[in-house]
Amino acid sequence: MTDLITDPTQPVAFPQDRTCPYHPPTGYDPLRAGGPLGRVTLYDGRTAWLVTGHAVARELLADPRLSTDRTRQEFPAPTPRFAAAQRQRKTALLGVDDPEHRVQRRMMIPSFTLKRAAALRPRIQRIVDTLLDELTAQGPPAELVRSFALPVPSMVICELLGVPYADHDFFEEQSRRLLRGPAPEDTLQARDRLEEYLGDLIDRKRTRPGEGVLDELVKERLSEGELDRQDVVSLAIILLVAGHETTANMISLGTYTLLQHPERLAELRADPALLPAAVEELMRMLSIADGLLRLADEDITVAGTTIRAGDAVIFSTSVINRDEDLYEAPDTLDFHRPARHHVAFGFGIHQCLGQNLARAEMEIALGSLLRRLPTLRLAAPAQEIPFKPGDTIQGMLELPVTW
Ligand code: HEM
Repeated sequence: MTDLITDPTQPVAFPQDRTCPYHPPTGYDPLRAGGPLGRVTLYDGRTAWLVTGHAVARELLADPRLSTDRTRQEFPAPTPRFAAAQRQRKTALLGVDDPEHRVQRRMMIPSFTLKRAAALRPRIQRIVDTLLDELTAQGPPAELVRSFALPVPSMVICELLGVPYADHDFFEEQSRRLLRGPAPEDTLQARDRLEEYLGDLIDRKRTRPGEGVLDELVKERLSEGELDRQDVVSLAIILLVAGHETTANMISLGTYTLLQHPERLAELRADPALLPAAVEELMRMLSIADGLLRLADEDITVAGTTIRAGDAVIFSTSVINRDEDLYEAPDTLDFHRPARHHVAFGFGIHQCLGQNLARAEMEIALGSLLRRLPTLRLAAPAQEIPFKPGDTIQGMLELPVTW
């Protein structure tokens, strides 16, 4: 096994599909055993480092010598779709390094504080309640991804950004194509349409300001000349993309995982005060953003290994968050462990900007779902329910439920 890990001529393929939707792909087991750094091969034949150890991951994610600039030709691409989409245009926040990143992040921080997320809770609760009213009026049964998991974050993002709700079908469709379009052209076309839509929206907000993150950016940054129209559009796109599928998948896969762990589910129903801890543990265990990408700008020596300038570095959050040096019985779902140090929201300067909001959404969505539907269960055999392939944010493709 060790030879397989250390021999760079025999790397493991990345990404791989999970065999169980809430466990890391078994194909990474040799790497998990050999950690904290292994070798993987990408679809284009290129090799990359796969970080699997928690301590090394935190060290490297905080290292400014690792770049996230996706427009660079050498930046690693896990799929052809990613390569086509990302190399075209600069991604705000997630795709920029310091010092540019620091400037963008500082502008956005006031909109994503714990206090702002707490203030949004009543609005999130209203959205969730309305969707559950519709769900219970029409069912049982129900398909939970389309009827609940996807619309919750989509509606929250619309409210947060200040996108008119009337446009949310268009908005949702384009963001779905942007992330999951069947061909690279879909991704590019969806991005163009979204950019055009958001550009028009920003123009309208200049004359008729409303309440939302985009309105604040227009009022405070665009009018002052600190940002141009394209900068605001880019920020809007990353917020939309980063906050939609991720949260939706945590809601769908979180529900599936709880239904597959009846004792933990019963524990949570009996003591709803466990909800924040349960969400944190689900974040750790599910690690849905499984493959954070970086490019080494300089040689970096870590844990006795030298990563060379120009090397691709990928972080498998699912494996990192199961590091036995940090977590006892890491493959077990346990709401009483201190799960907070997980890297499921990343770490370092790019650590998830929306994590306070995401936690609020997950707590309200999962908590309300369990409260409103005390007999919730899967409406199909668990092993027959389709989940997402390894090259995407992990989650359920469908979630048929009944109650
Ligand atoms: C449970 C849901 C979510 C998960 C699992 C998640 C995960 C992540 C991860 C792992 C990163 C770091 C990526 C990297 O370092 O390469 C990240 C960054 C980011 N996330 Fe989230 N996220 C979630 C929800 C959200 C929400 C709701 C928003 C905003 C509305 C958001 C906005 C962002 C932004 C803007 C970044 C880039 C930050 C930067 O580069 O400074 N995320 N997220």
